[in-house]
Parts: sequence; C-alpha cells; structure tokens
Amino acid sequence: MKAMRLAEAASSPTTLVEASIPAPQPGPGEVLVRVSAAGVIRTELNWYPTTHTKAGATRTGAVPAHEFSGTVAAVGEGVHDFTIGQPIFGMNDWFQQGALAEYCLALATSIAPAPLTLTPAEAATVPISALTAWQGLFYRGHLHPGDRVLIHGGAGGVGLFAVQIAHLHGAHVIATASPANFDFIRQLGADEVIDSRGARFEDFIHQPLDIVFDTIGGDMLLRSLPLIRPGRFAVTITSDHEASTDPRIHEAFFIVEPNQRQLMEIAALIDTHKLRTFVDAVVPFAEANLAYTGSPAKRLGHGKLVVAVAQP
Ligand SMILES: NC(=O)c1ccc[n+]([C@@H]2O[C@H](COP(=O)([O-])OP(=O)(O)OC[C@H]3O[C@@H](n4cnc5c(N)ncnc54)[C@H](OP(=O)(O)O)[C@@H]3O)[C@@H](O)[C@H]2O)c1
Repeated sequence: MKAMRLAEAASSPTTLVEASIPAPQPGPGEVLVRVSAAGVIRTELNWYPTTHTKAGATRTGAVPAHEFSGTVAAVGEGVHDFTIGQPIFGMNDWFQQGALAEYCLALATSIAPAPLTLTPAEAATVPISALTAWQGLFYRGHLHPGDRVLIHGGAGGVGLFAVQIAHLHGAHVIATASPANFDFIRQLGADEVIDSRGARFEDFIHQPLDIVFDTIGGDMLLRSLPLIRPGRFAVTITSDHEASTDPRIHEAFFIVEPNQRQLMEIAALIDTHKLRTFVDAVVPFAEANLAYTGSPAKRLGHGKLVVAVAQP
C-alpha cells in the first residue's frame, strides 16, 4: 500500500516521503481501516512515540496521523460490532503506524460508526480534538451545569469543541482567543471572550472559576491557578509543564485516550446539529508534507488541516 512516512535519513527526520509498504493484517480485537481522510496535528512529527518505540528504541519511518475516517476493510478475531464497508471514524495508538496510508489498524474499541451528516474530511477532524475536549471537561474538570469555565485557546482545534461542549452542558463559558476569532467563538457558545495575546486575561475575570482548560501552554495555566475556586480543577493538554514541580500543574496534564462510547455520544451530538466541526483545509495525499511543515493554500482559518488519503 502507499503510505507517507518520516524520512529515514537523519538529515531530514521531519520530512514525509511517499513509500510503498506492506498492508497490515488485523489481529484479535483489531479492525483494518481503509483510510479516507486523516486529521493533522503538526507537532506530532517530533513527539516521543513518533521517534521512539514503546520499548524506548529509536523509531524510524513512522507513519503519522492517528485520527481518521474511513471504511472497515477487514476485522480480526473477536470483532463482531463492525461490518465490512461500514463508514467509521476514530483513532489509534500513538506508537502504531498512523493513517497517512491506504490502510491502518485500530482496536475496534477505539473507533465508532462515522457521523452520518459529515463528509469523510469533516469526520477526520473530530476524534482527537473532540475526545480531548470531552475527557478534559467531564473526566478531569468534573463539569457541572452552571460552572464557570475558562478555556484558553477557544478557537483552536480542541478549544472549539471545549467551548461548544461546555456551553451545551450549561456552563458559563469564558474563552481566550485572538480578537479575529471573537465572533467565531461567540457563535459556538462563548459567553465572554478575552484577548489571549493582548491584555492580562486575569484582569477580566471577576468571579472564581470552576474549571480552567488550557490548550495554549506557556504560563497561561500558572497564571490561571489563583482564579480557580478551592476544590475545583485545572486541566491542560500541552506538555509545556511536564517538568513542573507544582503538583497542581502536574495533575492538570492528561493525554487523550480512545473511547468508543464517547465517540458515539459525540457523533450523536453532531448528527443532531448540536456540535459542529470545521475543516481548515484539505490537502491532497501527495502534498501531505505541506500540511505538517508548510502552509497550504485556501485555508478557511478555523478547525483542522486534513489530508485526503483516498479519492472521494
Ligand atoms: N494532551 C493531549 O491529549 C492533546 C490532544 C490534542 C492536542 N494536544 C496539544 O494541545 C495543543 C492545542 O491543540 P489544538 O489542536 O487545539 O491546536 P491549535 O488548533 O493550533 O489551537 C491552539 C490555539 O492556541 C492559540 N495560540 C497559539 N499560540 C498562542 C500564543 N502564543 N498565545 C496565545 N494563544 C496562542 C491559538 O488561538 P488564536 O488563533 O485565537 O490566537 C490557537 O487557536 C497542541 O499543543 C497539541 O499538540 C494535546
């Protein structure tokens, strides 16, 4: 099968090159996915699982992109809840070969039927971003209706889902973003918007917060801690604080995990038009490198970059 993988030459480790590699076979509990589209996280090329194996050895030739839409091409032993040809979306393990390839493997429990109302490119933007927002708000932030929630980076790939999900759940949503994105995030449900790059956001928060969800990094979380009501929660998804010795910062960090039931709940919200996703640009497979290292033309300005792996 054709795949885009990291160059093996040490001189260009973050360049993607097209290669022909053997198609994988599904093992027990796994599904072979014929990939339609893959969501792009630009920083992924430098992440530990991209450059290392689970055992800690150097990894070369990794195929990136761990969220995708596609159809079921084959199922492994013990998989009974998917049929061949069924449209699905989901994610796979960071250490596995990703979805910039005609086929990829995923655990059946890490995928779900694709939303009926989305194109394959739209569906590929959802799994990692929406699951991250969902898990951050409900499982790390213990979100309740009426909570005051501050979302840093509310117009970003994860942030736009966090704003919508918190709003849907009855929270009072305050989001930081660039002023050019204020109208966009207000439309998604933000009650208050604050310039993330200009004035001190702290000066605009006048009552204690229940949850701070940081998608930007830097000092945003540290500066937010004094604003949180005692006993409530700070959440961050950036690894900027990994070395922090502050237990509140350390406990705030989490990494998204695949979850079929949550994907199904998210798909239901999308199909009932309660939750929206956005495609920044669709990049052809042959130009996947551009999606990671350059700036594709015709960007819409919101949402994720997507690589079209199969011809629609
Ligand atoms: N831990 C996990 O499981 C997990 C999962 C998914 C993503 N991530 C990580 O989380 C981060 C966010 O992901 P994403 O997909 O939402 O990224 P994204 O789409 O690039 O959004 C990030 C947002 O941050 C804002 N921003 C960027 N640089 C800024 C700066 N210097 N000052 C103020 N605001 C700034 C931008 O807002 P404006 O455009 O409005 O300025 C942007 O919309 C990334 O680092 C990603 O790798 C982690």
